[in-house]
Amino acid sequence: MKFLLNWKQNGSFAEIENFINNVEQGQENEIIIFFPLPYINFANNLTLRKAKSIKIGAQNVSSFLKGAYTGETGASMLREIGVTHSLVGHSERRIFFNENEEDLVLKIKNLKSENITPVLCIGETKEARMDGTFLETLKQQSRIYLENCLIAYEPIWSIGTGLTPSVEQITEVACFIQDTLKIDMLYGGSVNETNISSIFQIPGIEGVLVGGAALSWEKVNKMMEEICL
Ligand code: PGA
Repeated sequence: MKFLLNWKQNGSFAEIENFINNVEQGQENEIIIFFPLPYINFANNLTLRKAKSIKIGAQNVSSFLKGAYTGETGASMLREIGVTHSLVGHSERRIFFNENEEDLVLKIKNLKSENITPVLCIGETKEARMDGTFLETLKQQSRIYLENCLIAYEPIWSIGTGLTPSVEQITEVACFIQDTLKIDMLYGGSVNETNISSIFQIPGIEGVLVGGAALSWEKVNKMMEEICL
């Protein structure tokens, strides 16, 4: 199973070192950690020495290859610091940084040209869930999916709120993704030690994208324990 751990804008050298020293590497699980950009090189050097099976991802990438784009980081730069995966279109980027479909298409293309796996994040608002148009939203957001990307279903109303969709609701989306894209998906949104085992039992789920609970190695180890039971 895939464990994608999104640290968002959190952490410090000390916290990251402590996390990597203590998180279980787990034989059956693929762990990919998305630390903030300034820590990626440091984290990669640490994992090379101490936790070879852990991969390091980026939370974002520039939609431009290179040039006069102050503050941006290109896909080739991420590859040079050992990044294997990058999130694309996380709802926080769509909402706070106005990322649109055109940007995301370029991001995916640039990542693929550097052999970095894009993790395309999709998810509906609370309103779209309530009025029943959520599948339409997901259909639109997932149409930029390209082969060999991962797809993470993260309902916006579930991120950081402690609310998770029911098993039936996640199953419905997993079936929709299997029908339309012919792949399994990751689930993200308030995943923790208590709900992870029921999420992993859902057919069509290949892993989780965890935010809040990913900041604690104790919680991550407990989550991995839970799915082995
Ligand atoms: P959460 O975040 O686990 O804190 O809900 C998930 C995410 O934003 O990827």
